[in-house]
Amino acid sequence: MLSKLILAAALAGACLHAETGYDAWLRYQSIEGALRVHVRATLPAVVTMLNDADPEAAARGELIRGLRGLTGRTLRAEGRIPRESAIVLGTLDELGRAAPQWNLGAPLPEDGYWLKTVIDHGARYTVVTASNPRGVMYGAFAMLRKIALGEPVDSLDERSTPYAPIRWVNQWDNLDGSIERGYGGRSIFWENGHARADLTRVADYGRLLASLGVNGCSINNVNANPRLLAAEMIPDIARIAAALRPWGVRVAVAVDFASPKILGGLDTFDPLDAGVAAWWKQKADELYRAIPDLAGFVLKADSEGRAGPSIYHRTHADAANVVARALAPHGGLLFYRGFVYDHHMDWRNPKNDRARAAYDNFHGLDGQFDSNAVIQIKNGPIDFQVREPASPLFAALEKTNQVIELQITQEYFGQAHHTVFLPRMWKATLDFDLHAGGASTPVKALAAGKTFHRPTGGFAGVANVGLDENWFGNHLSQANLYGFGRLAWDPDLTSRQIVEEWTRLTFGGDPKVDGTVAAIQLGSWRTYENYTGPLGLQGLTDITGNHYGVNVEASERNGWGQWHRADEKGVGMDRTVATGTGYIGQYPPTVARAWESLATCPDDLLLFLHHVPYTYVLHDGKTVIQYLYDSHYEGAEAVAGYAHQWKTLAGLVDERRYREVLAQLEYQAGQAVVWRDAVTEWFRRTSGIADARGRVGSYPGRFEAEAMHLDGYQVRDVVPAEDASGGKAVVCAAAECSAWLQFAGAAGWYTLRVQYFDQRNGISRYRLRVAGQWIDEWQADLLLPTVTLDSSSSTRRVIHGVALRPGDEIRIEGRPDGGEPAALDYLEIVPENQ
Ligand code: GCU
Repeated sequence: MLSKLILAAALAGACLHAETGYDAWLRYQSIEGALRVHVRATLPAVVTMLNDADPEAAARGELIRGLRGLTGRTLRAEGRIPRESAIVLGTLDELGRAAPQWNLGAPLPEDGYWLKTVIDHGARYTVVTASNPRGVMYGAFAMLRKIALGEPVDSLDERSTPYAPIRWVNQWDNLDGSIERGYGGRSIFWENGHARADLTRVADYGRLLASLGVNGCSINNVNANPRLLAAEMIPDIARIAAALRPWGVRVAVAVDFASPKILGGLDTFDPLDAGVAAWWKQKADELYRAIPDLAGFVLKADSEGRAGPSIYHRTHADAANVVARALAPHGGLLFYRGFVYDHHMDWRNPKNDRARAAYDNFHGLDGQFDSNAVIQIKNGPIDFQVREPASPLFAALEKTNQVIELQITQEYFGQAHHTVFLPRMWKATLDFDLHAGGASTPVKALAAGKTFHRPTGGFAGVANVGLDENWFGNHLSQANLYGFGRLAWDPDLTSRQIVEEWTRLTFGGDPKVDGTVAAIQLGSWRTYENYTGPLGLQGLTDITGNHYGVNVEASERNGWGQWHRADEKGVGMDRTVATGTGYIGQYPPTVARAWESLATCPDDLLLFLHHVPYTYVLHDGKTVIQYLYDSHYEGAEAVAGYAHQWKTLAGLVDERRYREVLAQLEYQAGQAVVWRDAVTEWFRRTSGIADARGRVGSYPGRFEAEAMHLDGYQVRDVVPAEDASGGKAVVCAAAECSAWLQFAGAAGWYTLRVQYFDQRNGISRYRLRVAGQWIDEWQADLLLPTVTLDSSSSTRRVIHGVALRPGDEIRIEGRPDGGEPAALDYLEIVPENQ
C-alpha cells in the first residue's frame, strides 16, 4: 500500500512554477517517483465512455486532463469496452447492457458512485459507475482525487453516497455585476444588467463545484431584483444554465415576492389571490420552457425590508406554497428563507430578542408547507456570527423540509483579508445534538431530512466567488468552499481530513507544507473568535456598516437586535426562560436545561445566553473580564505566529502564492492587534477593571503620532475612540507632511511598526527615514472597505532589522492622495525579535 511518505517523496521534486490559484484544488500537479511508477503501471491507456453526453462526457474530459497532468500520459478515448485494460465510465444501466458478465447490478442512490476494479479475461477494468450520469462524473472526480492524494487505485471497490440530495451554493450576485458580501471581485455571471458575454468562468466554476458533488447554484442575490424574471432575462438565465449543465450543476434563481405586482402589473401580490397564483404559474412555465432542468427558486420574504406576505396578513406557508405550486409540475423546489426578523425592534425592551425570530415565525407553521417547499435556515439564530448556537428551528420542523444555510463568503470573518477556516465551525453545529424528540438528533441529520424522514433536505452555502484569479481574494479561503462541498457530501468527515486533503491538492504534498497549513487553518476559527468576539459575544464589528472592523457599540441602541448589552456592570444577553427573553425555551428540554443554568452553560456560549457581571468566574477559572483581555492577546499572538509559520515555507510553495498568502497573514496580524487594542480598551474603560496582567493600556515602545513633532500633520479625533490608539490620529491636508521623534533608547537592532490608515478613496504614499537615511517606503493601496479613519482602515507596516542609536531622528513622511489623508496613528519601536 502506498503511504503518504511516498507521496511526499514523489512531490518533493516537483518544480514550483508561479501559480495564480485559479485551478484551486484541481491542479493535477505531476506526481513523481514511486507513486508515478505505481499509477502508470496500474492505470490503463484507454478510457471508455458508454454515453457521450454530458456530464459523462465532462467526466471523460476531466479524467484525460487530470491523468495527463498527474502522470504525463494522455488516455485514448473509446466508445466501447476494449479487450485491453481500460477505465470504463458508465451508469449501472449502461454497464448492464455493455458488460452484463460483470454483474454490476447493485442499486446505488442518486448521485452516489462506485469505483470498482474488474478483472476480465486478463484485462483490468477500472469501472466508474453510478445510477445516474452525474454520479459517474462524481466518481471520476473521486478517482482523480485519490490519485492526487497518493491513495492506491489498483484494487478498487469503493462506494460513496451523498448524505443529502440538496448540495447547493448560493451566489448573492447583482445584475449590475456587483456582489453583495462578495470579496473576490465582480460577478462571474452578470455585467451591466445581463449575463456576461463570456461565461467561461461560470463553466470553470461549475467544474470546481462538480468536483465536490455540489449539484445546484442560485445565481443572483437573495435581495432579488424583480427584473430577473422579465422575459428579456430568460435567455440570459438559460445561457448560464447551459454553462453549468455539463457539470451537473442545476441553476436556481432568487425571486422577489412582489414580482406579480412590480413586474406582472397586477394590483396585488397577495399569495391567496387567484391572479397572483396564475402569474407565478405562468412565469414558472415560461422559465421551464427555456430551462427544463431549472432547480427552483430561492425566496427571501418579510426580511430586512423585502416584500412578504405580512402586508396581506398571510403566513409564510401561504407565501411559500403559492410559488412552490407553480414549480411543482416541473419538479422545481422553492427555498423559503428562514432568515425573517424585525429589524426595527425596541432595544429598550429587555424581552425583545432577534434570536427568537426564526423559531417564532416558522415553528407554528410546521406541516403547512407543500412537499417541494424547503425552509432554508441559517446555522445560528442571528446572522453568521463567529459563535452562535445551532438554530432551534432545526429541531422544530418535523413535517417541513429544511436545509442548513452556511456562509462560505467571509462576511463577518474578515472578508478576503483574514484567514478563517470555517468547516471547523460548521462541524460544531452539524454535529451538535439538539435532542429533538429526546433521541440523538444532530443538526446534520435534521437538515438532511433523515430524522423525520422528509423527502428532501441538505445544505446551502453562500459562496460569492468572483472574477479574482483565485476566486475569493485569498488563497487560503478556497478551503472554505472545498470544505463546504465535502461536508455537504459527507458531514462525518473531520475538519482535519478536509484540511489535509485540501492542502495536499492545493499546495502539493510536502509534509512541512501540509503540517503548517493544517495547523494554521485548524486553529484559525478559535483565533478569530479570540480577537473579535469570545464567550458568545458575537463579532464586535460595525454591524450597521461594513461588517469588517471593530465597533463595540455599533450593535447597541438600535433596532437590529444584535445586542450584547455590555454596560459598566456586566455583559451578555439574558435569554433564559427564568428572567430573560425566553429564547432558551425554544430548544428541546435536554438542551434548554443545560443552557438555562449557569452551572452547565458552556463558556463559549455564555454571553450569548446570559447576562453576567464582569467578575463572574467561568468554568475555566478566569473572570469574564480577564478572559476577554486574555483571549484578545492570545488571538493577536496566534495570528502573528501564522505569519511566522508561513515564512518557514519559503521555497516549498510556489513564489506567487507564497508571497500573496504571506502578505495576507501579515496584514491580518496587524489587524488582530487593532481589534485587540480596541476591544480591550473599550471593556477596560467601560468596566473600570484593569487587566490583571497589566497589558491593556500600556504599550511599551509605542509613540502616538499626535505626540510626535509634526510638520504639516494635524491632530484629529477618531470615532469611535477605541479605533485609534489614544483615540487620535494625525492627518495631512498639504501635499506632504511628516511626523518625527528623536530616539532615546539604547543602541541596537529594532523592529519599527508604523500604524497608518489605508482608506479605499486614495493611494497615499509613505516613507520612513532614520538619521537622515530613507529606509522604507510603501503605499496605502489595499482595498479595504472604508473611506474614513477607523479600525477598518487602520493598517500596519513592519520594518525589521533597523539599527538605532540614541539621538537618531525617525521621520515618517506622508503624501495624501484623493480623499485619503496619509494618516498616522502611532509608531512602535521594539527590540528586534520581540
Ligand atoms: C446578512 C447580510 C445581508 C444579506 C442577509 C441575508 O444580513 O449582511 O447582506 O442580505 O444576511 O442573508 O439575507
